[in-house]
Amino acid sequence: FDKDQRHIVVQHDEGNDSICIGGVNKVYILNFTPNLQMNVQEDCQNYIRVLQKFNNSSIFVCGTNAVKPQCWSWSLSAHNETKVVDPQGICGRGISPYYPTQVSLSLIVEEDLYSAAPLTRENKNLQFRRIYGKRKQVWTDENWMKSPKFIGVSHIKRADDPDNEKIYLFFMERSLDEDPNVDPWISRVAQVCKVDEGGPKVILNSRWTTFLKAKLRCSIPSEAIYFNRLQDVFVLHSENWRESRVYGLFTSTWNFTAVCVYSVEEIDRVFRESTLKGYSSTLPNPRPGTCHVKSQQLFPAMLQVVKDHQEVDQWVQPIGDRTPLFFGRTPYQKITVDQVRGADGVLRKVLLLATGDRKIHKVVEDKHTPFNMLEIHPFKTSAAIQSMTLDSTTKKLYVGSAHEVVEISLENCDWHGNTKLDCQLSRDPYCTWRNGHCTSVRGNKLLTADKNSREPSKDLRIGKVMNPNENKSVLFYISVERENMFFLSCPVNSQHAHYWWLHNNTTKLECVRDKDRCIYLLQNVTPQQYGTYTCISEEEGY
Ligand SMILES: *[C@@H]1O[C@H](CO)[C@@H](O)[C@H](O)[C@H]1NC(C)=O
Ligand SMILES: *[C@@H]1O[C@H](CO)[C@@H](O)[C@H](O)[C@H]1NC(C)=O
Ligand SMILES: *[C@@H]1O[C@H](CO)[C@@H](O)[C@H](O)[C@H]1NC(C)=O
Ligand SMILES: *[C@@H]1O[C@H](CO)[C@@H](O)[C@H](O)[C@H]1NC(C)=O
Ligand SMILES: *[C@@H]1O[C@H](CO)[C@@H](O)[C@H](O)[C@H]1NC(C)=O
Ligand SMILES: *[C@@H]1O[C@H](CO)[C@@H](O)[C@H](O)[C@H]1NC(C)=O
Ligand SMILES: *[C@@H]1O[C@H](CO)[C@@H](O)[C@H](O)[C@H]1NC(C)=O
Ligand SMILES: *[C@@H]1O[C@H](CO)[C@@H](O)[C@H](O)[C@H]1NC(C)=O
Repeated sequence: FDKDQRHIVVQHDEGNDSICIGGVNKVYILNFTPNLQMNVQEDCQNYIRVLQKFNNSSIFVCGTNAVKPQCWSWSLSAHNETKVVDPQGICGRGISPYYPTQVSLSLIVEEDLYSAAPLTRENKNLQFRRIYGKRKQVWTDENWMKSPKFIGVSHIKRADDPDNEKIYLFFMERSLDEDPNVDPWISRVAQVCKVDEGGPKVILNSRWTTFLKAKLRCSIPSEAIYFNRLQDVFVLHSENWRESRVYGLFTSTWNFTAVCVYSVEEIDRVFRESTLKGYSSTLPNPRPGTCHVKSQQLFPAMLQVVKDHQEVDQWVQPIGDRTPLFFGRTPYQKITVDQVRGADGVLRKVLLLATGDRKIHKVVEDKHTPFNMLEIHPFKTSAAIQSMTLDSTTKKLYVGSAHEVVEISLENCDWHGNTKLDCQLSRDPYCTWRNGHCTSVRGNKLLTADKNSREPSKDLRIGKVMNPNENKSVLFYISVERENMFFLSCPVNSQHAHYWWLHNNTTKLECVRDKDRCIYLLQNVTPQQYGTYTCISEEEGY
């Protein structure tokens, strides 16, 4: 960027080589082919907070506009913008926040804009609304969410049943429990129907009639570890909506992070089958949460139940033994998930996790077991990762900081090394060994061709270094005095391998691992401890 951008938003179309970045006073269009070019296309006076493709010919751009939120419709063909002023006079309020530090979400579904943003400078009226487009404006009631912190919003398409399509909102809200020992935050998913037009004049007029919320559970009950705070969410869409997955990145009060995976089918089931919190009478028909194309004709008695009871009793549990996919101390902050069919024909999920300390981990999920394949350092300078956008079609990841946006190819298989063993042990489903190279499974592209472009490979530290070519099968003769102490240190090349020492080819001695070495301590050396010590590493049978 020509100047630092502390708050950026990203818009990208699958398959397109360009990426749109909204910064301060500017929308940048970055084009990564044939060369890295930067064209500044638009100049206005504000923090751009919303950048959404509205339809095939226009992009919706909204910004803080000097504490006076405003939207523009930007024509992709004419390359000019038009101020959006809709009949209600809403021209940016509730779509863009007032300050870049305030949270906002936006989503376009069939040329309708859904948003979650404050209506006031003081961050008040945090509601989820359908605010602009062809369908009627509808929003949440003031007290349906308590001081929410919005995390993500997603539309799940149902090709065979469009009238039952839902829009899911992911957020945290304050717990009603005043107990200081209880985490004040609860993570939730809420649903509304796409066809919802609000209630009749008498009740829930211009309010969602299908809003329901449920608790998202992410915990290890046996160890009393609770990950209550949703940090980021990624929805992995599937052709069959039931197979779509929600990847939630959570933290605990003690700053542990965890990834929990939810099935969209299960979220749907919870909303369709659960009883409502605080409601014990027979549920009205249709039951709350059911999509209704003529929502304005619903009976007031039924809508009264909706108005008073938005929370369902059942919790949404993660798939796979109801426990996290993994958890640990790595300070992950953002998550993106891709799917790739490996050389063995198996479709695998690959998680891209950005840490608070500027690294990206490329993790393959194999039968619900994660394997951390690679650590990527995307930037030359030490800048925090502000955005991470995946193009699943081209297998490119766009990573943004305050200074730059970097394009990373997920198919850069060179990074794993240049032997067949390196390639296989990387377990990277994007890569396979072919014609003497570790190369993309898709194969039709020679990925080494872009060596001259500003690719970030120079800055990469491979989390795992395997190099059997440098077979250091070296024999050292060491004299050690009796009753002295001695350390045998073996270099650790792979974090995934198991290391041990072997004495006189017979006795296995477990060594103590740190990041770079595996150490065996010889205490009070005696003649029995003389002999040959060999360091052995084993990984995947090698
Ligand atoms: C890619 O995106 C840019 C900017 O949004 C747009 O001008 C261009 O037409 C798009 N290209 C294709 C092939 O869709
Ligand atoms: C796209 O949306 C803009 C803004 O509402 C509208 O002016 C334009 O006609 C739409 N284009 C198409 C192709 O629907
Ligand atoms: C937008 O363009 C895509 C492909 O070019 C087409 O399939 C789609 O129907 C278009 N959508 C609209 C709303 O015109
Ligand atoms: C945008 O460009 C088109 C075509 O060049 C022109 O007809 C239109 O008036 C322009 N709109 C604005 C707001 O300048
Ligand atoms: C958790 O992380 C936050 C932000 O980095 C920090 O302020 C806080 O002290 C940490 N809490 C614990 C218990 O480590
Ligand atoms: C590495 O050393 C082992 C044991 O000495 C030997 O069997 C193997 O062939 C060597 N590998 C290479 C690549 O030199
Ligand atoms: C251990 O085995 C190696 C070959 O596998 C052999 O050369 C060496 O002599 C053996 N050492 C002892 C102490 O048996
Ligand atoms: C290992 O071999 C050395 C030399 O051959 C011998 O002195 C020593 O006693 C042996 N130690 C054990 C535990 O077998």
